[in-house]
Amino acid sequence: RQSGDSPLYPLLEAAAGYYRQALKSHPARQAAVDYLKGRGLSGVIARDFGLGFAPPGWDNLMKHLGGDSLQQKALIDAGLLIENADSGKRYDRFRDRVMFPIRDSRGRVIAFGGRVLGDDKPKYLNSPETPVFHKGQELYGLYEARKSSRDLDEILVVEGYMDVIALAQQGLRNAVATLGTATSEEHIKRLFRVVPSLLFCFDGDSAGRNAAWRALESCLPNLQDGRRVRFLFLPEGEDPDSLVRREGTDAFRARIHQQAQPLADYFFRHLMEEADPSTLEGKAHLATLAMPLIERLPGANLRALMRQRLGELTGLDPATLGEHAERPSAPP
Ligand code: GTP
Ligand code: MN
Ligand code: MN
Ligand code: MN
Ligand code: MN
Repeated sequence: RQSGDSPLYPLLEAAAGYYRQALKSHPARQAAVDYLKGRGLSGVIARDFGLGFAPPGWDNLMKHLGGDSLQQKALIDAGLLIENADSGKRYDRFRDRVMFPIRDSRGRVIAFGGRVLGDDKPKYLNSPETPVFHKGQELYGLYEARKSSRDLDEILVVEGYMDVIALAQQGLRNAVATLGTATSEEHIKRLFRVVPSLLFCFDGDSAGRNAAWRALESCLPNLQDGRRVRFLFLPEGEDPDSLVRREGTDAFRARIHQQAQPLADYFFRHLMEEADPSTLEGKAHLATLAMPLIERLPGANLRALMRQRLGELTGLDPATLGEHAERPSAPP
């Protein structure tokens, strides 16, 4: 990883400060304030997450931080300015958006997400990859979640910035988001360094359900015995933000308590949608799909129990199931 002394860190921190201040005092701030209020957010939560406002206009940040050409070059490296390839003109990447600073585990600002105040496209704009921001690794809200409690025992993994913030607003301060990228093994490793238990709660739509299965696949190699992964599926059309605001915290907690599915349950339920074990062919197909995945489990006990469960579902002998499986080749 990049060493701790990148000159981009103070620039990104200064940009976060500028956006925060603009939310408090820029003449055009009211639309952003109204937007955040309309989404049920308080000033306290805005402060805790360092929310800001990139005012409309092409050069607000550039004027504020731009300085000389060398400084502007650094702002380009930080993803804050864009240089037009043909004309060489430089302009602010983030304009007329609510700004979400993304922090690393040490609390340093490494990137931003920006949301339009209305229905324009793209809805969210994220910082590009930079020397300090690697998208597939970072989790929005992890720093803030750890700051809120020294002994978290479970982390909620959601899709979006607003899900993290809306949950925090409702007192559920243990949510993080993957920022529009698939949940990677790197994400999972990071999370299991912090807590022994993960709860995935993605949007109630086909994208969210696909993301859940991909998350399961990233979990399998990291699911040592003693770790726990669960999945909560939301009603069609809901996301954690919409649901927790509609139902409130207690109902959302009750939903987790009553409906969260352990990974192993979701695993078999999902595969049985593809391979119906009421026929011999279906049983064979189910075993073919399940075995290579089960073999990825590092925990000997869970691995044995899932083989046993597969044995019950198919009538195959759990002791021999492993022998027939085509093992995935070991990573280099
Ligand atoms: P809200 O409308 O603000 O509630 O957004 P959402 O978080 O519910 O959006 P959605 O479920 O569509 O997307 C989930 C996450 O994917 C967002 O929080 C973003 O991180 C990312 N995302 C969504 N739309 C875009 C987009 O247009 N561009 C990029 N780069 N990311 C997006
Ligand atoms: Mn790096
Ligand atoms: Mn969605
Ligand atoms: Mn959503
Ligand atoms: Mn949403």
